[in-house]
Amino acid sequence: MRKIFLFTLAMAMACVSVFSVCTFAEEHQPVRIENVTIDPEAIASREWLPEYEQLVRIALEMRNNYSYAPYSHYHVGAALQGEDGVVYTGCNVENASYPVGVCAERTAFVKAVSEGCHRFRALVITGAASDKKGSDFCAPCGMCRQAIREFCDPDFPVIMVEVDEDGVVQAYKIYRLEELLVDSFGPDNLT
Ligand code: THU
Repeated sequence: MRKIFLFTLAMAMACVSVFSVCTFAEEHQPVRIENVTIDPEAIASREWLPEYEQLVRIALEMRNNYSYAPYSHYHVGAALQGEDGVVYTGCNVENASYPVGVCAERTAFVKAVSEGCHRFRALVITGAASDKKGSDFCAPCGMCRQAIREFCDPDFPVIMVEVDEDGVVQAYKIYRLEELLVDSFGPDNLT
């Protein structure tokens, strides 16, 4: 009798945990990963491309829904397109021990590299204080510029956008990485 009771209890607990995992998964849907194809020649032109709109939308979704910034209240989202076509996403993840926090850009790069992608086409960064829905121009910090340098060529486009609360791009800046990090130190220096 005791065995039957314990077995039933174990089964009930297993059902509850499976149910809560499913509920969690439904509530926390990962941001969609889409294949956004960008022509490398178009990127080199530094014109605004329609494909960037998709990256902006994804970066904004990261900023608005996933950024963890309880200390600075400055929320950042990033969308990094790999050469494999996948868009790797990132948000800033702060920590009670402040220096432990990670920026949105580095979150995206770490996710990409940990999934085997080492080559990239473009990066969009969005950021603003928490009372805002859209984005101000958010420049990558110095540490992120160096992190980007590890995997990207000097002409890699880093895109900052001003976006209104409806998600409409009001203004943009497209920099080459070398403009943001002049005479940089990279992997080539160590070969
Ligand atoms: N932040 C980023 O996520 N990326 C940057 O390049 C600039 C700063 C974050 C870090 C911190 O969580 C918050 O913005 C305020 O500094």
